[in-house]
Amino acid sequence: MRVGVLTGGGDAPGLNPAIKGLVYRGSELDLKVLGLFDGWRSLMNPLPDVLPLDRAIVRRWDRDGGTNLGSSRTNPFRQITEAGDFEDRSPEVIENIERLGLDAVVTCGGEDTLGVAAKLTQLGVPVIGIPKTIDKDIAGTDYTLGFDTALRNISEVIERSRTPAGSHGWVQIVEVMGRHAGHLALWSGVAGQAHIILIPEHPFRYERVFQLLKERLGKPGLSREPSQRPRYAVLVVAEGARAEDGEMITIDDRHDNFGHVRLGGIGDVLASRIASETPYESRAVILGHPQRGGPPSAIDRIMGLMFGARAAEAVAENNFGKMVSARGIAPACELSLVDISIALGGISLVDVDRDYDTNRYHLKNLGM
Ligand code: F6P
Repeated sequence: MRVGVLTGGGDAPGLNPAIKGLVYRGSELDLKVLGLFDGWRSLMNPLPDVLPLDRAIVRRWDRDGGTNLGSSRTNPFRQITEAGDFEDRSPEVIENIERLGLDAVVTCGGEDTLGVAAKLTQLGVPVIGIPKTIDKDIAGTDYTLGFDTALRNISEVIERSRTPAGSHGWVQIVEVMGRHAGHLALWSGVAGQAHIILIPEHPFRYERVFQLLKERLGKPGLSREPSQRPRYAVLVVAEGARAEDGEMITIDDRHDNFGHVRLGGIGDVLASRIASETPYESRAVILGHPQRGGPPSAIDRIMGLMFGARAAEAVAENNFGKMVSARGIAPACELSLVDISIALGGISLVDVDRDYDTNRYHLKNLGM
């Protein structure tokens, strides 16, 4: 069988291990894997370029972050024309799949890229999905590739922000990605032991944030008295978080082809409110894309290899229209296939009742 593989949406560590898993397990199942460049965009090209992938080529890909096939946020169902209208270019995608003689397309992506795959499934295209996003917000799976590495990257920054914040007596704000889901903020905040964590699922109150800071810091400044009281705090805020009486903050008002705006800036808003309404100095850092950077963590390597191998098996079984799904995380992990239409049914959010302390703005039942 000839199988195309593409990676779409934001890059994530774990994608290259998944491709290696697909090629390696595929080689035992008689699959010939062809790499397609830059996500769905490759299949809207009149002459799609392909990279035949074999064991020798992908042998070392497990160590690589990002995606060696390139990525784009392309929605073939909603392409903007020169006149500024939208057109559906999915027929070109389907035509190219036929021209390349592909028996299947393995699609590694998040909500948007898998959403396109789900719509193509409805049009009869044989597709298998592999869930990836640092946001961990895809329904129907406990794990999405990239999440663990992003946790590692963010918690390292939290750790490194302690010394400047402690030396100067600041409230250090760390703004993290995650779009409308708070998984990344919540769990990186716990891993890095941030003192306050603000997530999109529960709009916060400024007054409560100020009060929590006051309880921790007391009077600002160094004292001659030996004191047990810390003089700094680290606050993690998700880019999609907002105050009860505020709006979500966006970088600008442009929308991509999936209808998303780029979020960002809530960290600076918080820092200036803290500086003007409390006695504490505050600094904000927006972590941005390096959160997704660097080599995949051990978990992303293992989960990527396993997801890729399971996708190869699904192709060999002709079991299309499915997404690889994990219950649990390796080593206690069970993989299965779920209907890819799950990607069209909305994202998975933090379960506030179960996991979030809405009074302490932290993980529940941790004594924080
Ligand atoms: O979906 C992954 C993600 O990193 C989100 O957390 C973030 O909001 C978005 O992508 C950023 O978009 P872009 O990579 O297009 O700047």
